[in-house]
Amino acid sequence: MVKTASTCLQCGYRALQWVGRCPGCGAWDSFAESAPAGEDSPPPVAIEDVDACASVQIPTGLAEFDRVLGGGLVRGSVVLVAGEPGVGKSTLMLQAASGLEAAGQRVTMFCGEESLDQVATRARRLGGPRRASASEAVDVTQIAALLSFADVAIVDSVQTLHDPEAAGRPGSVSQVVASAGRLARAAKAAGTVLVLVGHVTKDGSVAGPRTLEHLVDAVLTFEGDRGHSLRTLRGVKNRFGPTGELGVFEMGSSGLREVADASGLFLADRKPGIPGCAVGCMLEGRRQLALELQALVVERQGGLPRRVAQGLEGSRLAVLLAVLERHAGLSTSKLDVYASVAGGLRAGDPGNDLPLALAVAGSAYNRSLGGDVAAVGELGLGGEIRPVFGLKNRLIELARLGFKTVIVPNCEVDAGQITVSRVATITQALGSAYA
Ligand code: TYD
Ligand code: MG
Repeated sequence: MVKTASTCLQCGYRALQWVGRCPGCGAWDSFAESAPAGEDSPPPVAIEDVDACASVQIPTGLAEFDRVLGGGLVRGSVVLVAGEPGVGKSTLMLQAASGLEAAGQRVTMFCGEESLDQVATRARRLGGPRRASASEAVDVTQIAALLSFADVAIVDSVQTLHDPEAAGRPGSVSQVVASAGRLARAAKAAGTVLVLVGHVTKDGSVAGPRTLEHLVDAVLTFEGDRGHSLRTLRGVKNRFGPTGELGVFEMGSSGLREVADASGLFLADRKPGIPGCAVGCMLEGRRQLALELQALVVERQGGLPRRVAQGLEGSRLAVLLAVLERHAGLSTSKLDVYASVAGGLRAGDPGNDLPLALAVAGSAYNRSLGGDVAAVGELGLGGEIRPVFGLKNRLIELARLGFKTVIVPNCEVDAGQITVSRVATITQALGSAYA
C-alpha cells in the first residue's frame, strides 16, 4: 500500500494525515495531498529529442513589458503578474492584449474579477483590444477546455478561480495553488501561453502569488505608489530570460504610457540648488536609471528620533546614519531624518549610498550640491567608499542627462566626457561635494 502524505502549500510542512491548521507556519486550510510516486511514470527521454519551444517568443507590442520578459512571451510558458489591487494589472493586460492581437495572436481573457461589461467599457476607452475574446468563466475545468482556442490566455485573477476538485473557497491557498497548477498543465499541453494575474498585499503574504512562484516560468511584479503615476514592472523570476529587468510606465487618463527615457522622468521635477538633494544613478537589469535622492533632517519632535525611508530600505538608512556619525562627525542621534526617492521609485542599488549620504549631510548642513553634480558609490561600515558594478555605463547615462561632474569611488574607470572626483572615504566625499 502506498501511503499518501499531506503537504502545506505555504511552507512545505509535511504531515501523514490531513491537518486543518499547519503546525509549521500557522496557515489555515493550506494542506493538499501530495501524490505518491506513480508506477506508470513516463520513462526519461534524451534531451536532444525534446521538442524545445523556448526560442519562440511572442512580443506583446509593449516594449517595456517585452524588456522585462526578455523579448516577449515564450510559447508554452506560464507567467505570473503579481501586484497590489489597483496598481493597474488589468489595464496592463488589456493593453498587452491589444498589442498581441495586432501581431496576429488569438487572445482570450478570463475576467473573473470584473463583468464583461466593465471589461468591454475599459477596452473601448483604451482603444482596444477588439477581436480578443473575453469570458467570465472561473471554473478551471471550463477554462482548461477553452485554452486550446487561444495563443495567449490571460486569467485575471488567480484569486477568482475555482477548482471543483480542491478544497476551500476561491482565493484560499489550496484553491489558488490547485487551480493555477491545473491551468498551467493544461496550457502547456495546449501550447498556449498562460498569463496569470495575482493580487498581493504590501507584504506580499496573502494566499496566492508567493505560493505560485514554483509553478510558473516567470514572475513579474507590478508596483507603484497610489500617490504617484509611476508604475514599474520587475522580473523576479524568469526561466527563459534575464531577471532584474525593469519596465517603466506612467498611469494616465488613457491607460499606461510606456516610459522609454525613465531617467528623464525621474529627474523631470528636480529643482537644483535645494539642500538635501543629490542625484545618483542605479542599475536595473541592463538599464541605467538616474534618480534623485532626498533627505530632510530636522529637530527631533519629542520621543525617539524618527527615521522614515520612502522607496529605500529603512535598515540601509540606519547604517548610513551610523557611518556618518562615526566616520564623518555628523551626529543625527538627536534629529529626525526623512529620506526618499523622488517620484515614487523604489531603489535598492548599493550605489545609491553615496548620493543619499550627501543628501543627508546637505540637509543637516544646509548646503546644496551643484546642479550638474551627481554621485555614485557604496558606503562601507568603515566609512570607505566602495566601487560599484557598471560604473562606466552609469557615467555615460549621467553625461547624457547633462551632468558634468560625478563623485565616484577611488577606482579605475574610463570617464568619457564627464569629470570624475574620486573619493576613498565619506569624509573626502563630503569635502568634494560641499567644499
Ligand atoms: P486596474 O488595472 O483596474 O488595477 P488592478 O487590476 O491592478 O486592480 O487599474 C486601477 C487603477 O488605475 C484605477 O483605480 C484607475 C487607474 N486608471 C487610470 O488612472 N487610467 C486609466 O486609463 C485606467 C484604465 C485606470
Ligand atoms: Mg484588476
